[in-house]
Amino acid sequence: MSVQGACATARLPVRHLHLKLSGWRAIRAAIFTLGAGAIHLTVMPQHFQEYPPFGVFFLLSGLAQVGLAAALLFSTGSLTAIVGAAANLAVVTLWLVSRTVGLPIGDDPWRPETIGVADAAATILELMAAWNLVRLARRPEQPRRAGIRFRIRPVVALVPGLLLVIVGVGAGTQGMPASVNMSAPISVGQAAIPVESLHAAPGAEPLRSFTLVAEPVQIGGQTSWTFNGIVPGPELRVSQGDRLRVTLVNHLPASTTIHWHGVRVSNAEDGVAGVTQDAVPPGATYSYEFVARDAGTFWYHSHQDTANQLTRGLFGALVVQPLQGPVADRDYALVFHEFPGHPIIGPGLQGLAGYIGQAFSGQRVAVNGTTGDLRMQASPGERIRLRLIGALEGEQYGPLMMVAEPLELVAVGTCYQIVAIDGGDLNSPQCIGPERLRLGIGQRYDLSFVMPAAGTVRILDPRGHESVTIGSGPAPTVRDLKSLSLFDPLGYGQPAAVPVLGHGIDVTYQVVLGEEGGIRNFQPELIHTINGKAAPMGTTYLVRQGEVVRLRIVNETAEFHTMHLHGHVLTVLDRDGGAPHGSPLHLDSLLVSPHDTWDVAFVADNPGLWMFHCHVLVHAAIGMSAMISYPGVTTRYELGSRSGNQPE
Ligand code: C2O
Ligand code: CU
Repeated sequence: MSVQGACATARLPVRHLHLKLSGWRAIRAAIFTLGAGAIHLTVMPQHFQEYPPFGVFFLLSGLAQVGLAAALLFSTGSLTAIVGAAANLAVVTLWLVSRTVGLPIGDDPWRPETIGVADAAATILELMAAWNLVRLARRPEQPRRAGIRFRIRPVVALVPGLLLVIVGVGAGTQGMPASVNMSAPISVGQAAIPVESLHAAPGAEPLRSFTLVAEPVQIGGQTSWTFNGIVPGPELRVSQGDRLRVTLVNHLPASTTIHWHGVRVSNAEDGVAGVTQDAVPPGATYSYEFVARDAGTFWYHSHQDTANQLTRGLFGALVVQPLQGPVADRDYALVFHEFPGHPIIGPGLQGLAGYIGQAFSGQRVAVNGTTGDLRMQASPGERIRLRLIGALEGEQYGPLMMVAEPLELVAVGTCYQIVAIDGGDLNSPQCIGPERLRLGIGQRYDLSFVMPAAGTVRILDPRGHESVTIGSGPAPTVRDLKSLSLFDPLGYGQPAAVPVLGHGIDVTYQVVLGEEGGIRNFQPELIHTINGKAAPMGTTYLVRQGEVVRLRIVNETAEFHTMHLHGHVLTVLDRDGGAPHGSPLHLDSLLVSPHDTWDVAFVADNPGLWMFHCHVLVHAAIGMSAMISYPGVTTRYELGSRSGNQPE
């Protein structure tokens, strides 16, 4: 196995230059160092955009590694080996610090960075290079003349390193854009409409002022992020037609916002970081103002780094009471949420670690901050309205715990009406017995019932997580909850005219929910897509003011997705070929079951740049988010790592 003959001619000039090639160990060290350098140079442009000094660092360290690799190929001295090992280990140390305590400089000082595929590959290569160099320094190899004899073992030893280089450089090109602007296109002759101009006009509505202080608080031995020190945040209860002025004071160590989920606010008040505002930095204050046009059950939550911040506790109920109509004797809002301070579930390697942690610790579910049995007061004969708010991603299961099965609830002890879903009143809801009610994250169900003459009414979770007991006295008998039938909103209540459909559909858009494995933001992910595209480079649907827009939502995945549209109300037209045969349904959060197809329509009557995303927060964080935008509306905000705005 010799290629000496073939090299005979090539050897001559090399010998003439008195160059000698190093041995195999040095060659391995050189190739591993070169690979790490190549990865650093691949990720360099993105770092330049985010924070130029880091870009310079990656440029210099990449070039230094290339230079070191060249030196190693031709020098066999132990000094080169020692310097090379030290240089590689220094880079590894810096990486370790940046991933554990964080670096004192940068756009986000002292905040540990997440571990990605590219930097992990570079680090392993540096360690492998350093290992070879340390060995080399202790036992220098005989220099050899150019024209190395081919031997299989040393070449095989290169393979893992070469694979790491391919993976690392490949992942290094899959960074996220450092800045994305969500402005809608402007047609010729059209005037730009800045998002800021789309705010509530001043008016004489009764003013209700609230202050929400976002602050970390110790709850149950863990640090939660709260509004006003409690999880959920304070319940905001106003009357239809009130003008809300909410001051957000940020005492968190991170920037944040507030989004008014389900409320048809003006676009400038929507609270989406990077689209309608910059996330409010630590120490700063921001004020939202809008008129509560619609009565109903809503909620509010952070829309910055949402998958993390909402899970940590930044949410609360928002109830808008109708001006007329039957009033309940007692009206309770019940927020179902994860126990505050839950380990962060997110995308990528950290997310995986979070899921594994959760699989061992078990998911903890709470109602209005209480785990176990929450007790609410009520007397026999009183009419009760319960506003159930889903703030829980669902129970995770499946291969990577990626499937979030929505929360199920059963009301026992009385017959009840479901009087509203997502704030939209249902027409002639009949009194029904216990059924399993699915409550996807973002959805709201309003129940109305009369307390029995004796005993309690209970809300139970068939999976046994939590319960709510209303009233006092003997508890109702409970049958096998899991075998109860599932409530279907499409066949409940009585049909009625749907004015939205009056003049027919102007435009139909496909919304295909899909997923594919890949690398995104340097992380291995099950990327979640809408029409094959992942946020922030996702689909933008352009709608014109006054149009009736139909969305055909096709779920090609085996997961549940709660599709939520900001600023508008979706009227259900069809599910899997069947139109609703009960009350019309006007929703803002659609629970789309695996492989379901839904047709919904909305009137484009609220100009702006609006998010349309899956409310399973981890799905949105790994791409399942789109925009519904009105042509001409522009934003001066941007999202991405340069601004730090990250709405998902
Ligand atoms: Cu509950 Cu995009 O929001
Ligand atoms: Cu989803």
